[in-house]
Amino acid sequence: MATEEIIQRVNFLRRELDRLNYEYYVQNMPSADDFVYDRLMAELAELEEHNPELQSSESPTVRVGSDITREFVQVRHKYPMLSLSNTYSKEEIEEFDARIRKETGTDSIEYTCELKFDGTAIGITYRNGALVQAVTRGDGEQGDDVTANVRTIRSIPLKLRGTDYPEEFEIRGEVLMPFSSFNRLNREREEKNQTPFANPRNAAAGTLKMQDSSEVAKRGLDCCLYFLLSENLPFDTHYDNLQKAASWGFKVSPNMQKCSSIDDILTFLGYWDIERKKLPYETDGAVIKLNSLALQNEMGLRAKSPRWAVAYKFKAEQAYTPLLSIDYQVGRTGAITPVANLQPVQLAGTTVKRASLHNAEQIELHDIRTGDTVIVEKGGEIIPKIVGVDKSKRPENSEPLVYATVCPVCGTGLQKLAGEAKHYCPNESGCTPQILGKIEHFVSRRAMNIEGIGEETADLMFEEHLIRNIADIYDLTKDRIVRLERMGSRSADNIIEGIGRSKETPFPRVLFALGIRYVGETTAKKIALAFRSLDAIRKASAEELLQVDEVGERIAQSIVQYFADANNAAIVERLRAAGLKFEIETGGDEILSDILQGKSIVVSGNFSRPRDELKQLIERHGGKNASGVTSNTDYLIAGDKMGPAKLQKAEKLGIRIISENEFMEMINEPQ
Ligand code: IVH
Repeated sequence: MATEEIIQRVNFLRRELDRLNYEYYVQNMPSADDFVYDRLMAELAELEEHNPELQSSESPTVRVGSDITREFVQVRHKYPMLSLSNTYSKEEIEEFDARIRKETGTDSIEYTCELKFDGTAIGITYRNGALVQAVTRGDGEQGDDVTANVRTIRSIPLKLRGTDYPEEFEIRGEVLMPFSSFNRLNREREEKNQTPFANPRNAAAGTLKMQDSSEVAKRGLDCCLYFLLSENLPFDTHYDNLQKAASWGFKVSPNMQKCSSIDDILTFLGYWDIERKKLPYETDGAVIKLNSLALQNEMGLRAKSPRWAVAYKFKAEQAYTPLLSIDYQVGRTGAITPVANLQPVQLAGTTVKRASLHNAEQIELHDIRTGDTVIVEKGGEIIPKIVGVDKSKRPENSEPLVYATVCPVCGTGLQKLAGEAKHYCPNESGCTPQILGKIEHFVSRRAMNIEGIGEETADLMFEEHLIRNIADIYDLTKDRIVRLERMGSRSADNIIEGIGRSKETPFPRVLFALGIRYVGETTAKKIALAFRSLDAIRKASAEELLQVDEVGERIAQSIVQYFADANNAAIVERLRAAGLKFEIETGGDEILSDILQGKSIVVSGNFSRPRDELKQLIERHGGKNASGVTSNTDYLIAGDKMGPAKLQKAEKLGIRIISENEFMEMINEPQ
């Protein structure tokens, strides 16, 4: 049991961390540095871990998320979650104002003008000052319960400040991904060969729907609140209620303004059309709302939107410019991206010379041709895109564009797989950007983790003909490395040491490092554990590979093709000769401990490793595998997509539900 002293300390730490959070995430005025914050958070997490009875869903430690995966439960909105009707012109705003004046029969009307945040909508319920539930819009009637994910957003209070809030209320707002988080996330995704998000809105929506809230916690979401709903609102105007909400600790836009005339509204729109570009997150318009709640009530609702509010969408900036030519870029994975070379044109403060055309289908859709005057837009996306063609300016002799048939780098015929938008160059081992991509991937942290060889050094070694493929890395000598530009003797030693150490990399990571198309980290681990050696994988047929959890047709074919290629086979043999681990090391059935002696455990759902591996571990640590949840079950290890019935039963029987990581921690195995 926790002593009084521990309880006091836990309370103190929670108060202190709540205050630092509020200063940092809501007020943007931190008073302590990150180090102090991290230390306090670590101390609190440790105290809670050792005193589980003190754990609380309101503790600042929940902000780091939990990795228990679950499906989202659907929740019906208490008040339907409406959207807004859009306007695009001054005239439409005037019509909106005239309608309000006419229908309310009043001439002294007050509006609020706010920015329209471009993220994803959320409704958060508070009871007695504590966050109890957060639900997405869904279809407006019911949405997904994403409470665990929302709890990780640090600008959303878990517990309110002050005491003058209604006993129960809902606050709605927009979950956003600031540009800084968005850019970082996309950089990371590109490094991992994952498709980057097209814009911060998609990134925010995608993140909020993730199953693993500890991943959500890392992504740097933010939230701006703009609408309060309750039977007992403190004030009778929207503006005053939101200001009050700010005093409870919510992040409410400081740029909201009261306006009493069309001119005031237009001034707001004109000002923010320019100034919004300086904000740290995307906005795509403004929202004009009737300020008086009584008048809002009088105006009422339409099926999908209130009649007392309207959105004004800022025009995405566009420019017209001739398309001079099209280049085809070859990505590190062989994917081809057509890129338009444009006559340089000013757009949203920058000179645009190039714009992505995405893929052949996009070009065909807009019938884009060289010589055309194209319309370039910088909307929610950071990279300008071509949204259309001014056909009136099309030259007479213009011909439809013929898409590239061969790789611009190596001349190999391009291929296009069914279901994929992009063409790609199949010459994996002979096409420079792809070779470089493979080398960079091989040395990267999650693969062989060869310290000293970063992307730049790898590129330089390639250019200087020190390496032409991943196997060449193991033939490098210090003499040759030192000859590289800006390479000291110490750095060269480090690289040689790093290469030596990489030979200890466990087999699953070696398999991942080979860079077989579609074989990501998790898939590699699963295949390695199922087949246990590279030779067994090499000999496996597509049918045999398909037996492995999460291996589908596309992955199985890709593996078979990889080993059928003579170049790859030669590289693999050289890696074997260099001493890389080509087999799973442990024997597989020896007893490791008696930590789970007498425990009955149910494993259910999908995990990062094959379920059989978890079952083996249970037995090797003295436990017993059980297939169904009963009152005799000690633990349920809950994975992704597990049946809701099992989960419910376990909850009802009060059985401890743990995640894969918690289980691995329990048996002292690395995660
Ligand atoms: S008020 C009933 N205010 O835009 C009125 N919405 O296209 C509810 N949005 O559903 C919405 N900024 O997701 C409101 N300042 C703001 C907003 C805002 C962004 C979003 C919200 C809404 C959508 C409508």
